[in-house]
Amino acid sequence: MDTDAIEVRDCTRCSALCESRSRIVNGVGAADADLLFVGEAPGENEDAEGEPFVGRSGDVLTDALRDRGLARRDVRITNCVRCRPPENRDPTTEELANCRAYLEREIDAVDPEVVVTLGKVPSEHLLERSVAVTNEAGTLHDARIAGTARRVLVCVHPAATLYDPSQRETFADALDEAVSLIDDGESGQSRLGDF
Ligand code: URA
Repeated sequence: MDTDAIEVRDCTRCSALCESRSRIVNGVGAADADLLFVGEAPGENEDAEGEPFVGRSGDVLTDALRDRGLARRDVRITNCVRCRPPENRDPTTEELANCRAYLEREIDAVDPEVVVTLGKVPSEHLLERSVAVTNEAGTLHDARIAGTARRVLVCVHPAATLYDPSQRETFADALDEAVSLIDDGESGQSRLGDF
């Protein structure tokens, strides 16, 4: 799959975000990843560098992946909204809706085994209901996204582990669950290859 085809190069749907962004921040990583992580929106560092999750919360995610034998390029990392909201506020319902088709197109193109939602905003956006993230972290849900059945694993936002150390274990357990879901798939395949 050509990732250029799912990159958004120009968009003026959200007037406030056009003012606050320096650039559009597209998803990064493998175009055929088994795990697709969805965050909320770019922050200051992401806006400056043009890549999702490169600030402190990005370090938490990158380290957690590395601890489980995965590099950033092995997974896909994207956001619900591709432009930095002013003063890092949450994206509005309208902004989420404006960016939804881009996210759906990316999920369709990558076609991951599991979509991992990082925090409340992406969890509620993709499950289309309210989510108590700490309680539901590590749980897997069926969701219909752009007409396709998807498996969605709820996870706390990596930033939560920075300001609330009690969230570290919750985050780690959810990541373990995500990796075990794709490992199960892979071990099934390699076992078949033995015959
Ligand atoms: N937080 C997010 O939700 N997304 C990013 O890309 C960075 C921080």
